Amino acid sequence: MSVARVHGIKLAYEVSGARSPIVLLHGFPFNRTLWREQVEALRERYRVITPDLRGHGETTATHEPATMEAMAGDVAALLDELHITRVVLGGLSMGGYVALAFYRLFPERVSALLLADTRPQADTGDARLAREETAARALGEGMHTIADAMLPKLLAPSTQAERPKIVARIREMILNTDAQGAASALRGMAVRRDQTEFLREINCPTLIVVGSLDQITPPADAERMNREIRGSRLEVIAGAGHVSNVERPAEFNRALENFLRELEA
Ligand code: MLT
Repeated sequence: MSVARVHGIKLAYEVSGARSPIVLLHGFPFNRTLWREQVEALRERYRVITPDLRGHGETTATHEPATMEAMAGDVAALLDELHITRVVLGGLSMGGYVALAFYRLFPERVSALLLADTRPQADTGDARLAREETAARALGEGMHTIADAMLPKLLAPSTQAERPKIVARIREMILNTDAQGAASALRGMAVRRDQTEFLREINCPTLIVVGSLDQITPPADAERMNREIRGSRLEVIAGAGHVSNVERPAEFNRALENFLRELEA
């Protein structure tokens, strides 16, 4: 693990492999180890950079809302520190919100996008209220209540029933997230901007991936992004829920590696 000092916080990250850089941004409330299987698959041919986003993993938590723009700014500062100008940028769920914010802020730094189990819309009024309740619960009761509430929605029914190691791994990631970091991220997600109109301005190769059983950002969201982003490709991972890269790593990696190979051709 390495640490960069960016915007007054300590940002933990890992770099695996050499050659052309790809940055993978985890979802909420996880950390960089979410990408373990992708790092293993890609490290021989790519330089895979996996940061812990603000308030997650070993990166400092802040008290103010961790906006998608603040997280994107942290990633840009990390790339500056690593002297990297342009990357393939991927994100899952909240990581996808951050990837969209990053593209909006720094389009010249993105050579291609991976948007996994994510969506372009802002929160509804009710969703914002629910975020605030969840933030209060995380701070008051701790992360186990968040894990209990989220797990049934995060994973496909068959993953929950038959893959106890995955259930335990996801639970552990949630329990290891700092409650203040989670609350700040929830408050940041609650105020994220609607990126739906912006999708038409995306002008780089884009791979969209979604689990067929994703309940949080369902395939309809992915289909909408695929319609709006010029020349994008959609891969639906059969039988996976919201954490499709962990639930079905072989299928996820195949889609990602095919996409990356075509970029090089
Ligand atoms: C995530 O997986 O990052 C979150 O579930 C996204 C969200 O709550 O909107």
